[in-house]
Amino acid sequence: MTELFVVSSQAEGGELAADRIAATMTSVGARFVLGVATGSTPQSIWRALAARCRSLDLSTVPAFALDEYWDIPEGHPESYQAVVEREITSPLGLNPQLVRVPGDDGKDSAAPSRYEQAIRAAGGITLQVLGIGRNGHIAFNEPGTSLASRCRIARLTQQTRRDNSRFFAAAEDVPSYCITQGIGTILEAERLVLAAYGLDKAHALAAALEGPVTSTVPASALQLHPGVTVIADAAAASQLKHAGNYLAAGAL
Ligand code: F6R
Repeated sequence: MTELFVVSSQAEGGELAADRIAATMTSVGARFVLGVATGSTPQSIWRALAARCRSLDLSTVPAFALDEYWDIPEGHPESYQAVVEREITSPLGLNPQLVRVPGDDGKDSAAPSRYEQAIRAAGGITLQVLGIGRNGHIAFNEPGTSLASRCRIARLTQQTRRDNSRFFAAAEDVPSYCITQGIGTILEAERLVLAAYGLDKAHALAAALEGPVTSTVPASALQLHPGVTVIADAAAASQLKHAGNYLAAGAL
């Protein structure tokens, strides 16, 4: 069953997620593989983890990003490869050689299957951090994506392009295509930690957790996963009808 934590700030959410990551690392040891997300939501998680760098050695942990823009100039500061390096790899003290972003070994048609293969070769993702789009996407799996989808090249919706235009100088600079882990890929991670903050995410979060499982709301596929932790602030949780029914660790 999904566990839900309603937190009073993103900083608190970051600490909670960092606790989860550290505890999972301790329990699985050297086979720990971290799945990372970009965007605004997980930033407090990366800050909380970075602050623990002295006691938590992440230098041998392989990490896989969820997604990347496809049609973005190489070296662009908003490419997820650059963002991951700046916001995750360097502050967390990860080994850059062990950090992968889809398409980082060449943007050709075989890149998605090579990425799937790399995840498999690393032993699979132990814990995947996720955000959620206002339209219910996870990674760049937009509404209408098959719940069995694998890593692939896909098109971004206009809404996602608009939402992400805040990172670019001009709206038309936002890429139109992406390479993304599929929903089927994400569901294979052993544990999922999804964070959502702000009223903007309330509708998507309620549809994901309490609506029908449907490709129209890709994040609703999380209902099929046995190990999901959701961290939300009160605004993002405000449209949940059954918030009191979720199991929160330590509540029993
Ligand atoms: C990012 C990703 C996306 C974001 C989502 C929310 O790697 O996969 O699904 O998690 O678009 O973005 P933010 O957190 O910026 O609101």
